Amino acid sequence: MSSESTGRSTWKSRTGFILAAIGSAVGLGNIWRFSYLAYENGGGAFLIPYIVALLTAGIPLLILEFGIGHERIGSAPLAFRKIGRRWEWLGWWPLLFTMFGIVLYYSVVIAWCVDFMFYSFNLSWGDDPDKFFFESFLNLSSSPTEIGVIQTPILISLFIVWLVSWGIIVRGVSRGVELANRVFMPLLLLLTLVLVFWSVNLEGAMVGISAYLKPDFTKLGDPDVWISAYGQIFFTLSLGFGIMIAYASYMPYNSNMTGSAVITALANCGFSLLSGFGVFAILGFMSVTQNKPLEEVVTQSIGLAFVAYPKAISLIGNAGPLFGVLFFLSLTVAGVSSAISIVEAFVSGAEDKFGINRKKLATLLCVLGFAGSIIFTTNGGLFWLDIVDHFINNYGLVMAGLLECIVVGWFFRLDIIRKHLNKVSKMQLGVWWNWVIKLCLPLFLTVILLNQLVREFSVAYGGYSWASLIGIGWSWIGITFLVSFIFAVQPWKTDNHLAKGRGEEL
Ligand code: PFF
Repeated sequence: MSSESTGRSTWKSRTGFILAAIGSAVGLGNIWRFSYLAYENGGGAFLIPYIVALLTAGIPLLILEFGIGHERIGSAPLAFRKIGRRWEWLGWWPLLFTMFGIVLYYSVVIAWCVDFMFYSFNLSWGDDPDKFFFESFLNLSSSPTEIGVIQTPILISLFIVWLVSWGIIVRGVSRGVELANRVFMPLLLLLTLVLVFWSVNLEGAMVGISAYLKPDFTKLGDPDVWISAYGQIFFTLSLGFGIMIAYASYMPYNSNMTGSAVITALANCGFSLLSGFGVFAILGFMSVTQNKPLEEVVTQSIGLAFVAYPKAISLIGNAGPLFGVLFFLSLTVAGVSSAISIVEAFVSGAEDKFGINRKKLATLLCVLGFAGSIIFTTNGGLFWLDIVDHFINNYGLVMAGLLECIVVGWFFRLDIIRKHLNKVSKMQLGVWWNWVIKLCLPLFLTVILLNQLVREFSVAYGGYSWASLIGIGWSWIGITFLVSFIFAVQPWKTDNHLAKGRGEEL
């Protein structure tokens, strides 16, 4: 079995791999994005499209990404190159828009969490957290073109976030990423359990929880609710990022990959459901103590963590600072374990193709990542964040997922992957899975994409000028797309691409 002599880094254990995959999946998106979407899209009724999206898209696609990485034995670029010479760019593109798009602003949001962890000690936000966040902390300008100056406290924490990520990645797969997640994931679970338990025991908690769980079935007829559910499943499971492919490639031959995908997906979504209880309990507490209807205490997604939570922390009383520190610490831990996953996936891709040493690559990527993130620490940073996030999530991820299904489903023998997965896993995939990948997913994703596109051209997103949307959003997608071809046409400096897949060897 030559696959075992590839010299590829490996996880020490399956548990380590699953924890790392969960570490990538569970992130900022699970804590506030999920709760806010659930609330906005019909409370308990959102759980129906969410679970349908998990079963019809999330789990089959995660199995596919694990299958691609494990069977082809490669990071996304290597795996797609081994699927077909002309598809290598499809491995680079997601890595490029995630590493030089998502994670640039994502690391800035983690930096905000680090700052707010310190602000929690003396409740620095005072009586008006809204004013504090937007005016003092971000010093928000009036449009994306007014970049203004860098906010120093954000820059300092941002530096720490990148330094920690670098420190983990340079240590390698098992001693770095695996070890970090072995510490981070249990810590995150513990913090979340403490916070949820604490929150549900606050006065008024039940008001929030019943809003969270009360289904509003009329919302199910609204296509936007379904689109939000599918979009959230992509983001939350880190699908279409190129990460899960690299992580799976580090697993030795006999590994239950299908089972691992199911465990990862269920653990991630279970975590979201659990933290939703905490978030809604806090909202209920605020609504009762301030005597305001629940709708008035919920703000937009960013406002939830950085405006509503600080308000609640102040209302908790003496133990408020402790609650604040734990909450922002949990967000930081969740965020860092996701951020390192994309740096690792990129390192893996570049190592596979160019044979460059991991330490050098990790250093280069973290320096570039830090430098690239700086734009989001400026006074116009929040607008940039909003635009880049909108375009990459709605077009980058969905398009990458769609192309992945089409290329592997129609331009490659998908059965090689299915049979390989069945050989190494306990859970057996029937032929139905091929049809989910070949037909159902491409159909769903095309509908979602077209729906978004129609909306995109009818109203300017977020009320921004068309020039900003084209100059920042579309360009970001376009440039990363072009660069993926530049990477793909470079000659291979290693001969990794000549090796066969595991399914073909036997
Ligand atoms: N799955 C992560 C979340 O839900 O927050 C998203 C993520 C962002 C993963 C950035 C990886 C990453 F580099």
